[in-house]
Amino acid sequence: MTPMVAANWKMHKGEAEAVAWADIVSARLPQGIEAVVFPPATALTAVRQTVAGRGLQLGGQNLFYESAGAYTGEISPKMLIAAGCRYVLVGHSERRQIFGESDREVGMRLRAALEAGLTPLFCVGEQIEDYERADYHGAIQRQMGVALKGLEAEQVARIVMAYEPVWAIGTGRSATVVEAERSADIIRQVIRRLYGAGINLPIVYGGSVVQENISGFVTVAHLDGVLIGSASLDAELFCTLMEEVAGAVAP
Ligand code: PGA
Repeated sequence: MTPMVAANWKMHKGEAEAVAWADIVSARLPQGIEAVVFPPATALTAVRQTVAGRGLQLGGQNLFYESAGAYTGEISPKMLIAAGCRYVLVGHSERRQIFGESDREVGMRLRAALEAGLTPLFCVGEQIEDYERADYHGAIQRQMGVALKGLEAEQVARIVMAYEPVWAIGTGRSATVVEAERSADIIRQVIRRLYGAGINLPIVYGGSVVQENISGFVTVAHLDGVLIGSASLDAELFCTLMEEVAGAVAP
């Protein structure tokens, strides 16, 4: 996969700020990467108009598993597609922890995204307690085992996996390249066990990615990209991060 550099704004930026960011970033997109932005839903349309035909891709931060109905506050897969999204985050740890999304519910959202033709970035990762007792496998195996249940190989093949250790998100303490590589191997093992060796999913890393550590994830750990929260909010800094990855993977 072309290395992905993705910006997850979380609950930041109104329309005007979002448009200004999208305009700066679209003008400086380097060759050789897939740049994606996940704005809050209220800014999707404005960002879409700004990036139209300029190469920056759009994604939703979450989705609901029904296509329409009495679900106050939720957004359907179809709505995201109509708003110009190609991607969607599924199972981000903030959704799991703050909003109580269970592994099963994450699985329902994952299936809905795939059935609608969106490309999900399926986020998995361990808590600090698991990490401290060196349980690197448990959480990833459980999250993937439950959420992938019942999905066909052809559907699973369209998922982008995101390894996001919970202890690294927004903490300023990222995983090392060795840790990211170890978890990527665990993700690959789970896929192999469930679906055989024929499926090789792209895996991106997220959690306190900054300029100092970004290139290691794509060069040393051989991952397929990065998902950036805090450091994606400033347009100039995000351009620098995209350029770091593009430079690191250039032939
Ligand atoms: P962070 O967030 O870069 O601020 O740690 C990453 C994420 O939540 O995807």
